[in-house]
Amino acid sequence: MKKLVVLTGAGISAESGISTFRDHDGLWNNHRVEDVATPEAWERNPSLVNDFYNQRRKQLFEVEPNAGHHALVQLEAHFDVQIITQNVDDLHERAGSKNVLHLHGELKKIRSSVDPLLIYNCEGWELKMGDLCPKGSQLRPHIVWFGEAVPMIEPAIEIASQADILVVIGTSMAVYPAASLIHYVHRNIPKYYIDPKAFPIPGISNLHIIQEKAGVGVRKLMDELLT
Ligand code: APR
Repeated sequence: MKKLVVLTGAGISAESGISTFRDHDGLWNNHRVEDVATPEAWERNPSLVNDFYNQRRKQLFEVEPNAGHHALVQLEAHFDVQIITQNVDDLHERAGSKNVLHLHGELKKIRSSVDPLLIYNCEGWELKMGDLCPKGSQLRPHIVWFGEAVPMIEPAIEIASQADILVVIGTSMAVYPAASLIHYVHRNIPKYYIDPKAFPIPGISNLHIIQEKAGVGVRKLMDELLT
C-alpha cells in the first residue's frame, strides 16, 4: 500500500467546534501565548496555565470527531495512512485513525514537571494544583509550549521522508518545526493542501490546493485519489 502521510492542524477540528489559534475568533485572540503557553508562564502562574488547559480538556468531553476525521479513517482501506498532527485533541483517535503522532503533545495526558518521561493519562478533565508526580513535583499538561523542544519531530521527519503522497489539512503553516515537514517529503510526490486559506507554498512543487473546509476537502481528495 502507498504511504499517505497527513499533516493536520487546528483547522481539521474546527468543524467539531474547537477553536483554531489564528483565525478571527482563535485562541490566541483571546489569550496571550506568553500568559498560558510558555514554560515562563508556568513558572510565573501555574494555576492560570493549568486552568487554560483544564478548560480545553473539559471541552474534549463535549465535542465529537467530524467528517474530515472520519474521511481520513476511510482512506485507511486504500493507503497506509500515517497522521502527524499539531493538535492536542484526541479526535483523530476517537474517529478511529490508527497511526497518529502528536507533535505538540496531548491534552488528555499529564506529566511530571521535573521528569518529562513520567507521563500519565489525565483522569477526567481536571488536573488540580497539588496533584503531584511520584517525584513530588506538580503535574503539568503534556503539551509542548512555545520555546520547548519538539521531541517527536525526528520520528515525524522519518515518516514524512517515506511518504508517497502528502496531505496537509487545516494549518496556517506558521509554526516550526511542524511546518518544515513539507520540505522533508520527496520533491516529486503529489501533495495536497486542504484549507479555506490554502496557498501555494514557495519551493514546493506538485502541490494541489483545495480551498475547502476539511469536511468537504477531504472528500474531494478521496474522489481524486480513488478514481
Ligand atoms: N477546515 C479546514 N481548515 C480550516 C477550517 C476548516 N473548517 N477552519 C479554519 N481552518 C484553517 C485556517 O484557515 C488556518 O489555516 O485552519 C488553520 C488554522 O491555523 P492556526 O490557527 O494557525 O492553527 P495551526 O496551524 O494548527 O497552529 C499550529 O500553533 O499555536 C500553536 O501549538 C499550536 O499546534 C498549534 C500550532
